[in-house]
Amino acid sequence: MVQRKRVMGALVTATVFMSLVAGCGAKTTETTSATTAPQATKAAEAAKAGDGKVVVGFSQIGAESGWRGAETQSIQDTAKADPTIDLKFSDAQQKQENQIKAIRSFIAQKVDVIAMAPVVETGWEAVLKEAKDAKIPVILVDRGIDKKNEDLYTSFIGSDFIVEGQNAAKAMAEHLGDKGNIVELEGTVGASAATDRKKGFDDEIKKHPNIKIVKSQSGDFNRATGKQVMEAILKSPEGKDIQGVYAHNDDMALGAIQAIEEAGKKPGSDVKIVSIDGIKEAFEAVKAGKLNTVVECNPLLGPQLFQAAKDLKAGKQLPKWIKSNEDVFTGQKAIDALPNRKY
Ligand code: AHR
Repeated sequence: MVQRKRVMGALVTATVFMSLVAGCGAKTTETTSATTAPQATKAAEAAKAGDGKVVVGFSQIGAESGWRGAETQSIQDTAKADPTIDLKFSDAQQKQENQIKAIRSFIAQKVDVIAMAPVVETGWEAVLKEAKDAKIPVILVDRGIDKKNEDLYTSFIGSDFIVEGQNAAKAMAEHLGDKGNIVELEGTVGASAATDRKKGFDDEIKKHPNIKIVKSQSGDFNRATGKQVMEAILKSPEGKDIQGVYAHNDDMALGAIQAIEEAGKKPGSDVKIVSIDGIKEAFEAVKAGKLNTVVECNPLLGPQLFQAAKDLKAGKQLPKWIKSNEDVFTGQKAIDALPNRKY
């Protein structure tokens, strides 16, 4: 009888845990060292969240770009290689509501640290207050949230998107010899990566009065939308006379390159292209003469994330912003760097 009660207890715990995860409406996977235990036992074990490991729940935005794929890979690979880490990974499939559900699930599982790449900057207050009340530190990875909620997270690991935008503008001005009409393909509306890359670029380009942004539109950080938006712009009156395209990420630039070629123009020469990220395909496009400058944004954040999580568990203080080191690649410099690109 006692034995039966114990089995029932374990099953209830496992069911509660699994419905929490299933309730996320997003893909949640676990990267743990225990792979052979039957599912119910595994779930019950995970529900205990502890056994000496640092348990990290990470809510990823989705898989909208090559850069995002590289970031996911870096986080999953780093966790797999480290026996002291227990990663609970959740893919929000581009939806903020899925990220919020995942964070609530991590809180219920009593993870040590919550990490997330916030799809947009606003709308996090309530759920991050819940994490704070549960005394679970939150690390923002790669994208930020609005400034008024800075007390709701411990640390941000990632790039300076404003500087990336400024660097893109400097490169564009050089390619254009200081004059011309350009199109800006923006990232996801409301994402810090889009807002700040726009601010950095637009402010810097204003220093060049003979360069005009004739059209600025979101391509949602993905290749297919980038291509569609560029096709429409090329058919519009503003699109008839353009000499440059600035894309907030490589995927949209690669989509735009296809659209420009299909419209009978030469990307890289008729229309100069500058984009941000630094995926291999963008370097290949530079080599092919179709893309002019790639501003690097580092997605390989796994090692920094888990070091930060371990430090937090050990009671150490983290800097508010752990910045990535990045470079700018034009012409031969990009071609030389291509064989060693890691993503
Ligand atoms: O937040 C970083 C941006 O998000 C990357 O530039 C882009 O490719 C991704 O989707």
